[in-house]
Amino acid sequence: MRTEEVLFGLEEGVEPWPNLAGRLGISPEELRAILLALRGQGFPVLVEEEGAGLPPGTPAPQVLLPRLRGKLGRPYRYLGTTTTTQDVLRKWWEAPPGALVLAEQQTHGRGRLGRPWQSPAGNLYFSLLLPEVDPLLPFRAGLALSDAAGVGSLKWPNDLLAPDGQKIAGILVEREKSRVILGVGINVERGPIPGSAALAEFRPVHRAQLLADFLWHLEQWLWVNANDVLLAWKARNITIGRRVAVQLGTQVFEGEALDLGPQGELILRTSAGLRKIQAGEVGLL
Ligand code: BTN
Repeated sequence: MRTEEVLFGLEEGVEPWPNLAGRLGISPEELRAILLALRGQGFPVLVEEEGAGLPPGTPAPQVLLPRLRGKLGRPYRYLGTTTTTQDVLRKWWEAPPGALVLAEQQTHGRGRLGRPWQSPAGNLYFSLLLPEVDPLLPFRAGLALSDAAGVGSLKWPNDLLAPDGQKIAGILVEREKSRVILGVGINVERGPIPGSAALAEFRPVHRAQLLADFLWHLEQWLWVNANDVLLAWKARNITIGRRVAVQLGTQVFEGEALDLGPQGELILRTSAGLRKIQAGEVGLL
């Protein structure tokens, strides 16, 4: 029996060995060997004395797909450990808009501004293929993240911060010709670096449901006019009105974050006058 058939045949929770083996039409010994191999590939399968299955919330296709309410998220590739979902999706030439790649762990996860994105087991790491929308896509995605998470606030341009100011999630937008690859990392169970937090510290999380909710909300935000996107983002942000330091490479601009420009630029009042910031890492002072 092929490994994928076993992976995609598992249910959430622990199912007794005789049931599972009978349902999949495979001997318990062979089943156990396949499950252990899947674990070795980075999939979070439960292999216990009494039975086997998936931890509740595992975003395997059989758990995620029935929860999708819109068009985003199909077709879907579910991976164990990979380099980065951004590259897997980029190389999936025939993928149509809406295609989704998710990995349980990444060895070369990347963040904005060329930084690494630590990707241990237990969190969500996924990339979504979209047609070019407009320069506000990162803000639309930030709003969808905030809707799905239900806690925290947004820091320019699209970090989701926990109520205590630690980072829960980030968004990376990469463009290639007319294709846009939107990468999202959400710390669900683990905030892997200092200054990060896990969403599960603030509310119970079913990872597949959280992902389905994000995709649904994003689909709605893609249709909202630019002005309303900016207004909604401002209502949930913690950057505007604060003194900030924006770092871009070796340059640091310090000043008061006054507003957003029409394309989502951060308008900063510095000692040298007004500046429009297109990209950078904001530190709240
Ligand atoms: C940020 O710097 O805040 C953006 C982080 C984006 C991380 C996600 S995880 C899934 C996708 N694959 C990657 O390598 N990066 C993005």
